[in-house]
Amino acid sequence: VSAATRLAVATPSASYDVLVGEGLLAASGGLVRGVSAAARCALVTDENVHERYGRLVSGSLAEAGFRVTEIVVAPGEQSKTWERAGEVLEAMADARLGREDLVVALGGGVVGDLAGFCAAVYLRGVDYVQLPTTLLAQVDSSVGGKTGVDLRAGKNLAGAFKQPLIVVADIESLGSLPEAEWQSGLAEVAKAAMLSGQQQVERMTRNAAKLAAREPDVVRQAVLAAVAHKIEVVSADERETGLRESLNYGHTLGHAIERVAGYGSVPHGVAVAEGMRFAARLSERLLGAGPGLAQSQDALLEALGIGRPSYPRDVAALLDAMRADKKVRDGTIRFALLAEPGRFVAVPVDDDVLAEELERWTDETCERG
Ligand SMILES: NC(=O)c1ccc[n+]([C@@H]2O[C@H](COP(=O)([O-])OP(=O)(O)OC[C@H]3O[C@@H](n4cnc5c(N)ncnc54)[C@H](O)[C@@H]3O)[C@@H](O)[C@H]2O)c1
Repeated sequence: VSAATRLAVATPSASYDVLVGEGLLAASGGLVRGVSAAARCALVTDENVHERYGRLVSGSLAEAGFRVTEIVVAPGEQSKTWERAGEVLEAMADARLGREDLVVALGGGVVGDLAGFCAAVYLRGVDYVQLPTTLLAQVDSSVGGKTGVDLRAGKNLAGAFKQPLIVVADIESLGSLPEAEWQSGLAEVAKAAMLSGQQQVERMTRNAAKLAAREPDVVRQAVLAAVAHKIEVVSADERETGLRESLNYGHTLGHAIERVAGYGSVPHGVAVAEGMRFAARLSERLLGAGPGLAQSQDALLEALGIGRPSYPRDVAALLDAMRADKKVRDGTIRFALLAEPGRFVAVPVDDDVLAEELERWTDETCERG
């Protein structure tokens, strides 16, 4: 193992480490053994990740003395369902996984959310670890303990809080990520910079070309900065009563765009980046944030190579989609906004104001639907 950086997470319910470094999957067995005395483990992964890293990780776990049962699901959001969770749970029972045993999630956010959810409910809860292999999973979904599956009514509508024993993020594994998945992660990295402060925004903008080209040193720095930010937030607010809401920055409109355009037609990160552009403008208009906010964010997103999506200019449909989100409180849609980079404010926005702002925004930017 080349030198890994260890970041500590401390929430009211658990303390654990996030390791970030290169070559960590090859050493994963020993790293996991360091936090678990389990005899057996269920290695939950998807077909793509299994093909690339399954043998490496299984072998390393076996070498560390775990009896490994591989549970492989189809790649993509389609596997984050109640039905698939049931199959994974049945497979765990078939493997006679016991209370002292372990679930290992190897893959992106889909596998992490699904496997974490199964670990939360199997035998009323067994331990699990996260081996995230997408940029999004490394900087966002693997840290913080939110797990779950989608329901027909919407994404992430059933789930549990369940903190892992350890998160092992091997940045070398990011080399094989398809470009759209890379950009999804970059949008979250940019979000973390915006939530951290102007200095981070400027540093990332300077490094953007190298980051887009996946230069290892720059990737490592960016992952560490984003993870550190996520840790700070979830440590302060494990259950999303306050600061954790800031992580929704860009996601309110972003999710609505994904839904209205049809899931899969606008990549998640591109939709989130678009939501950030809107949120920055909303911040300027509702919070009096300086015009530099949207401008410097636009420059960052452009430098990262995250383009503008086209989606139907259907304000009513976008509003409906936002209402279906969990972030509605007392009937009013809440936005995570920024008074300035690094200074988050949660703002309930009335429907008529929101409709007007969306009209303005879509008039300026979208194809006519
Ligand atoms: N729990 C949380 O706090 C949280 C936060 C943000 C997002 N999420 C969830 O995360 C999910 C999205 O995660 P994602 O973007 O990682 O998607 P994903 O898990 O579907 O992975 C994206 C694609 O990349 C492939 N892949 C994964 N690692 C690879 C690698 N190293 N090389 C090549 N291909 C690889 C996968 O097979 C998949 O096809 C969503 O369901 C979202 O709701 C959860």
